Amino acid sequence: MKQNNPLNLLKEKEALAKLGGGQKRIDSQHGKGKLTARERIHYLLDPGTFEEIGMLVTHRTTEFGMADQQFYGDGVVTGYGTISGRLVYVFAQDFTVFGGSLSETHAEKICKIMDLAIENGAPVIGLNDSGGARIQEGVRSLGGYADIFYRNTLASGVIPQLSAVMGPCAGGAVYSPAITDFILMVEQTSYMFVTGPNVVKTVTNEEVSAEDLGGASAHSTKSGVTHLTSPNDLTCMDQLKQLLSYMPQNCEEQAPSIPYEYGDESRPQLADILPASNTQPYDMRDVVTGIVDDESFMEIHKDYAENIVVGFARIGGKSVGIVANQPLYLAGVLDVESSKKGARFVRFCDCFNIPLLVLVDVPGFLPGTDQEWNAIITNGAKLLYAFSEATVPRVTLITRKAYGGAYDVMNSKHIGADMNFAWPSAEIAVMGAKGASEIIFRNEIKKADDPAAKLAEKEAEYAEQFAHPYKAAERGFVDAVIDPVETRERLLKAFSMLKNKTGRLPRKKHGNIPL
Ligand code: HXC
Repeated sequence: MKQNNPLNLLKEKEALAKLGGGQKRIDSQHGKGKLTARERIHYLLDPGTFEEIGMLVTHRTTEFGMADQQFYGDGVVTGYGTISGRLVYVFAQDFTVFGGSLSETHAEKICKIMDLAIENGAPVIGLNDSGGARIQEGVRSLGGYADIFYRNTLASGVIPQLSAVMGPCAGGAVYSPAITDFILMVEQTSYMFVTGPNVVKTVTNEEVSAEDLGGASAHSTKSGVTHLTSPNDLTCMDQLKQLLSYMPQNCEEQAPSIPYEYGDESRPQLADILPASNTQPYDMRDVVTGIVDDESFMEIHKDYAENIVVGFARIGGKSVGIVANQPLYLAGVLDVESSKKGARFVRFCDCFNIPLLVLVDVPGFLPGTDQEWNAIITNGAKLLYAFSEATVPRVTLITRKAYGGAYDVMNSKHIGADMNFAWPSAEIAVMGAKGASEIIFRNEIKKADDPAAKLAEKEAEYAEQFAHPYKAAERGFVDAVIDPVETRERLLKAFSMLKNKTGRLPRKKHGNIPL
């Protein structure tokens, strides 16, 4: 054994020096600003609340000279504590011990806190920094990962599971985070891949750096695997804390609310937020921040599928999940990526009783071979399905366009939304006036002496009929057409009215979302 007896430890500082995590400061190429596993836990949790479990565990491997290489804790620090006074379970892998790789005993430690978390209804936070299954252990470490994946799946929808990736993570070390609810990555010091650059080179002859293959930038912009990135370990953990603040402890509870006093809720800045022309873009985030409590908006997945905005915020001190088309990118159209991004977020909110606010300005689904061959049918259906099955309070606001199938999908009344509002600028139709006129008045336009003038005339006629919210309001598909300035007040009242909603789905084992 290489370590001293930890039972003699008197002071924490001394303990840190003798246990995995404090024994070898990481100062290699991964080390820029990286904290040790224990430093991470101490920063993350409320001071003095961390209770460690399994500090004395060691691995049982004897092959490859491993019997002589023992470290108490076996490369992972596990336990529980509080964040803002709320119980959480946490594990932090220690890259200085066999690259944070997962042995059978390392896995047992993680499983133990996961079981406790499920039984006691509190979130699990994983601080991942691991080369995956410990190679010296063979199938025992693979089994250990499967034990964790199984628990990740059982815990899904029962307790929030958050994964911070804070170093190189490969193999099983990325599949467990993938099953959890949110993945956060630290820029430049972390990466995630199933197989690293060397294997990629061998198999495909492709040369790629670890950063390009699986760095924070690649996963926040290209793959969408990671939801949040941050410049260093500390900001990453600040994000974890903020994220948790919007969530309940488990699926049986409501998210914590912040005391709120009703005041002047009118928001004059919303009056002229829309540009003069309906083809000009604007930033839907300005609408979001104009509606929600000051500085309460936390955007998730912000650099991926930017044509839809998702994130958490508070209205009147209470958590809401926001899903909003973003006219600033691709005119806010729905495509494969934005549908998947939206659907995943909607399902998280529904699992954990977080009401949904949906802001709509959508010209439809993106046409084209790329979209069709990448299964916009199946992927668009995910968002439709996710909204349709959500039983949390659901409120919609149509700011401008709500065209075609996208009108149905974006939390329309028909698929179970509770309260649907529209600004007077809303246009609710099968398609825009120009496209519609070109189709339904084609012959008339063709025969006209001046086809362009005829088209303009027909466009105006169509717009008169449909480029407003009143036809939808007449049918009750929109509950009220509201002054933008009053939006916040109307939403506050709507969510307050819906706070005791008890939505139920038909009895079933589980649905079959088109994956
Ligand atoms: C045992 C490991 C290890 C592992 C790293 N180490 N990964 N030991 N098992 N899986 C050790 C190294 O030997 C080294 O020890 C130390 O950790 C640091 O590793 P380096 O390679 O020096 O670090 P770096 O260059 O940053 O590379 C990090 C890495 C790389 C990308 C993670 O180590 C790597 O590719 N590791 C193997 C990844 C892998 O293939 N894992 C198994 C996947 S299969 P010394 O003593 O030299 O400091 C899997 C199955 C799960 O996980 C099932 C999925 C569905």
